[in-house]
Amino acid sequence: MGKDVIIACDFDSAEKTFAFLDKFTGRKPFVKIGMELYYAEGPSIVREIKKRGHKIFLDLKLHDIPNTVKKSMAVLSRLDVDMTNLHAAGTIRMMEGAIEGLTRPDGTRPMLIAVTQLTSTDQESMEKDLWIEKPIADVVMHYAHNAKIAGLDGVVCSPLEAGKVHETCGKDFVTVTPGVRFADGDVGDQKRVMTPAQAKEIGSDYIVVGRPITAAEDPVAAYERCIAEFVG
Ligand code: C5P
Repeated sequence: MGKDVIIACDFDSAEKTFAFLDKFTGRKPFVKIGMELYYAEGPSIVREIKKRGHKIFLDLKLHDIPNTVKKSMAVLSRLDVDMTNLHAAGTIRMMEGAIEGLTRPDGTRPMLIAVTQLTSTDQESMEKDLWIEKPIADVVMHYAHNAKIAGLDGVVCSPLEAGKVHETCGKDFVTVTPGVRFADGDVGDQKRVMTPAQAKEIGSDYIVVGRPITAAEDPVAAYERCIAEFVG
């Protein structure tokens, strides 16, 4: 499994995104395009970033009836992204539909990973709002296991859960972990954080890093620091 650093390009326009990406004249980082940028600019932003030579994680977190997800994934597969995702809460059948839709006629497809429980959901809100009364750590592992059964490649999870996910679903089941901060950096609104070196230690396969790179005075240096700590 190739370990890599994925930069969360959480910008609201193509202009800001390209002003940021233009700084990277050497190594082309793996970038995450989320809902904000995708809804602002549409599929053309994906094509343009791809054309510049970046790998892309399209983070749109699909969750709908299996047929709709299958057909939407078929459309997304034509964008030639490297990784995309959905909510495991949509059921195993929905995830199987997603794989079917995402698989191109030649049998290839982007990596597909699942969101288990959002890290913004805690035990209390899960019980009160969702009426799920099991321990949240068990729910996360159960959803990860469902994703594995459906044939997905891995999950997005907290770096603190990555080791347990590998124990439960196997070492080849990919863990993509946000919530990364430098030891001497600002934590911001993230609560449970790890440094790139700690994420490496615990076995994350990919780290998703946003503001520690995008808001840095020297984003390229911050990115290279992440690479040095995480990939080595
Ligand atoms: O700026 P920061 O490093 O906190 O950005 C982390 C990125 O990972 C953001 O795009 C955020 O939406 C995303 N993310 C997260 N926690 C999750 C899932 C995604 O922070 N559980």
